[in-house]
Amino acid sequence: MEPQASTIPTTVNLGITKMLYLWLKAFHIISVVCWFAGLFYLPRLFVYHAQSEDTVSKERFSLMERKLYRGIMGPAMIATLIFGGWLISLNPGAYFSQGGWMHAKLTLVVLLIGYHHMCGAQVKRFARGENTRSHVFYRWFNEVPVLILLAIVILVVVRPF
Ligand code: HEM
Repeated sequence: MEPQASTIPTTVNLGITKMLYLWLKAFHIISVVCWFAGLFYLPRLFVYHAQSEDTVSKERFSLMERKLYRGIMGPAMIATLIFGGWLISLNPGAYFSQGGWMHAKLTLVVLLIGYHHMCGAQVKRFARGENTRSHVFYRWFNEVPVLILLAIVILVVVRPF
């Protein structure tokens, strides 16, 4: 069904706190998208890196991995945590007093931060030429953030509990 024009108000007349909340949420989502770009692409690079045999390719993959991890994923993860934490601080009671979806989301975020650091350890292992895992391992490893993303988006949007 088409929404009525009058049911989609603009936000220009909202109070300062509500505007801050919307801006923080916008930047939170932008940071999440940037973080996930890296969480999806870095393990893909591991797949190709594990398949490569010549030194030139290996060194190029290591450079790409390091730049993606340090230049994009690290800052995006920190921005996600800052904007998310700031959002909670605006009204902590609203998120923790009813339902358990935010607790579940934060548990998954902790797992995601663990995954992020496992990626960082792997970047270093590849750079030292000490990778022992096959490209098949990284193909499966690559699916972990997909599952976490599905679960978190369903938790924050549907709020099933
Ligand atoms: C410590 C990390 C995080 C904290 C503290 C946090 C906190 C929050 C808060 C308080 C909101 C506003 C909820 C509302 O009022 O509707 C929010 C929205 C959102 N968060 Fe996070 N978040 C974090 C990480 C993440 C991650 C990793 C993802 C993605 C996988 C994510 C995806 C979203 C989405 C999609 C929304 C918009 C929900 C909506 O408007 O319906 N967040 N977050």
